[in-house]
Amino acid sequence: MDMEKLVALCRRRGFIFQSSEIYGGLNGFWDYGPLGVELKRNIKEAWWQDMVRNPPPGPDGQEISMVGLDCAIIMNPKVWVASGHASGFADPMVDCKTEGCKGRFRADQLTASVCPLKPSKAPGQYDKCQLTEPRTFNLMFKTFVGALEDDSALAYLRPETAQGIFVNFKNVLDSSRLKIPFGIAQIGKAFRNEINPRNYTFRSREFEQMEIEFFCHPNESMKWYRYWRDVRIQWYTQLGIKSDKLRPREQGKEELAHYSIGTTDIEYLFPFSDEPQELEGVAHRGAFDLTQHQQHSGKDLTYFDDQTRERYVPHVIEPSAGADRFTLAVLCEAYTEEKVGDEMRTVMRFHPRLAPIKAAVFPLVNKDGMPEIAQKLYRELKREFNVFYDDKGAVGRRYRRQDEAGTPYCFTIDGQTLQDNTVTIRDRDTLKQERWPLAEVAARLRALLSP
Ligand code: GAP
Repeated sequence: MDMEKLVALCRRRGFIFQSSEIYGGLNGFWDYGPLGVELKRNIKEAWWQDMVRNPPPGPDGQEISMVGLDCAIIMNPKVWVASGHASGFADPMVDCKTEGCKGRFRADQLTASVCPLKPSKAPGQYDKCQLTEPRTFNLMFKTFVGALEDDSALAYLRPETAQGIFVNFKNVLDSSRLKIPFGIAQIGKAFRNEINPRNYTFRSREFEQMEIEFFCHPNESMKWYRYWRDVRIQWYTQLGIKSDKLRPREQGKEELAHYSIGTTDIEYLFPFSDEPQELEGVAHRGAFDLTQHQQHSGKDLTYFDDQTRERYVPHVIEPSAGADRFTLAVLCEAYTEEKVGDEMRTVMRFHPRLAPIKAAVFPLVNKDGMPEIAQKLYRELKREFNVFYDDKGAVGRRYRRQDEAGTPYCFTIDGQTLQDNTVTIRDRDTLKQERWPLAEVAARLRALLSP
């Protein structure tokens, strides 16, 4: 699959635009257009439904306790000292001192980077390059809270949603009477001043995370680590990611983040890379975060089990997914070009649950009472689903437009509808057409779209 063709389709059809494009854009920032916002919402809603409201049964068949949270993006800066981000969240960088370049590159990705003055070469390979020694560079975006712009007012945009969950652990415990094991989930924006944003939305400076912190007894943590790794891989395959492009990869000891005892990356083979790339990390964070926040805040963050009379700091398993990364994987996976008769068609084969538009309604011609029936069906369906009404041009063209948007079903009101109250339903993938009673369309569509 050609990434350039996908990027062009995303722009032309309104999935993804460059942020502030009319001013030349801003590197590492992206906007979702009318189709893209529906796709990403469907992804986040599928995650919330399948992980928070109705997670799969636990390893022993037990019900999983899970609640949600929505925390502020700007938090007390002490949070980032305790979490290790203030001192440790940094990449080694090299700068180029050459006049007219002044490039900054990740030291560990020099060979994959491009020299701004000589794009055919990597930084350091062009004879004018003057690279500095690697220096660390904190990835957190800084801002000031209040009127003063001095160190006392310094704050950061959160680089992950996870810390909001850890610092609310006691609040959630006290207000919801949950018993361990249980999870707290959050979907929200995170910000990282990435040195080398690249591969379309894959590495952005502003992105959304879908994170779960699952609190458990230390003795049971490995069981829950394996459970969440398997549940998360299954979730991607259920939503149409083919298993030959998806792989779990256990991180080597040298790769592990400072907080992690073990991490499995769930990786996807994107078209822009020969090697699968991280979609999600499932990390065993041990007692690191709660212990750190306990020490730095002076607040007791232990858990007391009133049955065993044991008091302990829970261990945490963290499945941390990127909503934008998965959206990109879904777009890559869906993009298909194929020959239909003598014509080529481009079709986005989204899983029906994720498709931005669930169905389109067409009157075959704009006369003989067909538009009135089509409008009535459209209004009935739009109460429940995102549906699209199209009465412009030949029906074949209308089908092609919906194929590019990834709409799984199209309903056409035609001459036969006037006689027997049935409509044609056309399936995006098989191209098969059959007739449904008009009165059953909503119920049958609901059944096709249910998870
Ligand atoms: N709380 C753990 C954590 O944040 P991470 O591996 O740094 O771990 C988790 O990030 C996920 O967030 C990644 O697997 C990826 O999907 C997404 N992500 C991280 N950095 C990103 C970026 N610069 N652009 C887009 N998504 C990103």
